[in-house]
Amino acid sequence: MSRTIRIIPKLDDLFCAAAQKIVEIVTCCREEGRTCSVALAGGSTPRRLYQLLTHPPYESKMAWNHLRIFWGDERQVAPDHQDSNFRMAQEAFLSQVPIPSQQVFRIEGELPCDEAAMRYETVLREQFGVMNGDVPRFDLILLGMGADGHTASLFPGTTVIEESNKLVAAVWVEKLQAHRVTITPPVLNAAKDVIFLISGRDKAPALQAVVEGPRDPARYPAQMVQPTDGHVLWLIDFEAACDLSKATSTGPSTS
Ligand code: 6PG
Repeated sequence: MSRTIRIIPKLDDLFCAAAQKIVEIVTCCREEGRTCSVALAGGSTPRRLYQLLTHPPYESKMAWNHLRIFWGDERQVAPDHQDSNFRMAQEAFLSQVPIPSQQVFRIEGELPCDEAAMRYETVLREQFGVMNGDVPRFDLILLGMGADGHTASLFPGTTVIEESNKLVAAVWVEKLQAHRVTITPPVLNAAKDVIFLISGRDKAPALQAVVEGPRDPARYPAQMVQPTDGHVLWLIDFEAACDLSKATSTGPSTS
C-alpha cells in the first residue's frame, strides 16, 4: 500500500482537491475504455464534495455515463429517510447529473439488515463478475472517519473488523442502538484508490491515532484500510490535522 497525506487549510479547497482527484480517476477509466466503479461515503462531510461535482469545472469534465455508483455503507432506513446515505447523494448530485439509473446500485436500507447485506453482496458479485469467491476491485472508494476512528460502518469493538469472507456485512452498533450494512475489509483492501475526506477538530485525536499511532484496528477501525495493491489519499483540513506531528503535517506527503 502507498499513501499520500495532504493537509489543506481551507475546507473549500479540500473539496476541490477531492473533486479533481475523482475527475482524474474517472477520466483514466474512460481512456481505458471501461466504466469506473466508485463506492460513495455517507455521513455529512462528503455532501459538499458531491454538490461541487455538479458545478464547473468538474461537471463538464466528468464522464458521467462511465460511472457505476455504489455505497460503502448504509443506515437501516428507507431511501427517502433523512438519515439515508442514498438520499444524501441523490439530492447532492445523483439527481442532477446524467448517470444512467441502471448504473446506480444502492444498499436497500429499508430491508432487514442481514437480507440487505446478502442482496448487496450478490449485486457486487454480479456487477464485478466475481461469483467465484474473488473480491471485487473498486476503482475508487470514498471514506470518511468518525471521531471514534470508525470508517464506513466498521465501528470500534464490532466483529465485522475481522471479517475475511463476506463482501458485505450487517452490523449492530451498540452505541448507536442501530443496525448498519457495510462493505468489509476485504473489499476495502482490494481497492485501486481510496480517498479519506476528513474535516473538523473533533476528528483530530482519532486521526492522530489512526495515522501515527500503534496498530490497533479494533480500537481505530480506519487503520484496517490498507489496500494490498492500491493507494490511499488522505485529504485532511487544518482542524482535523491539528494533532498530527510536524513530521506528518510538513513531511513528504507520500509514503
Ligand atoms: C456513515 C458513514 C460514516 C461516516 C463517518 C463520518 O454512514 O455515517 O459512512 O463512516 O463517514 O461517520 O461522518 P461525518 O462525515 O458526518 O463526520
